[in-house]
Amino acid sequence: MPAIKCVGILTSGGDAPGMNAAIRAVTRAAIYNGIRVKGIYRGYKGMITDEIEEFKTQNVSNIIQRGGTILKTARCMEFKTPEGRKQAYDKLCEHGIDSLVVIGGDGSLTGARIFAEEFNMPIVGLPGTIDNDLWGTDITIGYDTALNTIMECVDKIRDTATSHERLFFIEVMGRDAGFLALNGAIASGAEAAIIPEISLEKDQLAEMIETGFRKSKNSSIVLVAESDVTGGAMGVAERVKKEYPQFEVRVSILGHLQRGGSPTAQDRILATRMGVAAVDALLDGQRNVMIGIQNDEIVNVPFSKAIKNNKPINRDLLNALRISSI
Ligand code: ADP
Ligand code: F6P
Repeated sequence: MPAIKCVGILTSGGDAPGMNAAIRAVTRAAIYNGIRVKGIYRGYKGMITDEIEEFKTQNVSNIIQRGGTILKTARCMEFKTPEGRKQAYDKLCEHGIDSLVVIGGDGSLTGARIFAEEFNMPIVGLPGTIDNDLWGTDITIGYDTALNTIMECVDKIRDTATSHERLFFIEVMGRDAGFLALNGAIASGAEAAIIPEISLEKDQLAEMIETGFRKSKNSSIVLVAESDVTGGAMGVAERVKKEYPQFEVRVSILGHLQRGGSPTAQDRILATRMGVAAVDALLDGQRNVMIGIQNDEIVNVPFSKAIKNNKPINRDLLNALRISSI
């Protein structure tokens, strides 16, 4: 297998705090190992539109603490077509890029997998998403920061919920996954969480109300994961207004503020470890793998397993929330 000489790096899909720390680590690990680095702007779009720049160590100075991504990010429909990907490949060749590190979520790594197979290019992925929905890694880059943001927001809403003795439904992100809602609920002392993984099994709202979850409290907060399956916070609140009119209900949708902010220490460290591991994996001849972390050990997870594979919710967490919120 030919040696890696020049690695392209890009961020794609929804941004996540810690992406900059990952860009920094990949850049510096590559340079440390004598590999050139090219930053590709705006995800896969920048490959097609030729927004590619040589990166030196100074390009990534003073970014570890910054949210968002200095490489910008985008969703690129053209990359979903064979013609778009061929254009992208031709541009990479013009720049002498022989390998890629792609930082993004499930969609971005799906694109990486297809591209790697089509053009036989070594690609390593880093799980960059607040949703924590990639299989094979205990946590993803950005998840911890988003959880902390959710916790701080819920703490604030708790003040007003208690003062007015209201029932709040707070919607959090996560696409089709309930990790942010469930762990956000535990961390903020919320009374319950409504998550898509469990919605398919039982009526979480009816169960909560029937078990009298609000009896001894003068406010209640329920975190609802966005998703068609849960109906989102608005959907749940509409149902409560009809079926349980005794409650005074309010809804708060946290939205994109969950994606912003300075990454936590955990996200910075995770992104740095994963970035260094991505370059090691390329040097080691690995391809088509996502870097993951399991029990504090870095692992290489084949794309085929990491993506489009439902990551299970840990049932202990459901129990912990149920018992700690009585
Ligand atoms: P995320 O990476 O956060 O899950 P998206 O699902 O929006 O975000 O995917 C980001 C980008 O990855 C898409 O805009 C597209 O360029 C690329 N992508 C996603 N799915 C595919 C696919 N099936 N084939 C090729 N590229 C894809
Ligand atoms: O995948 C990250 C994420 O923030 C999801 O939680 C959310 O559903 C989606 O991206 C929102 O995307 P957009 O920024 O396009 O509104």
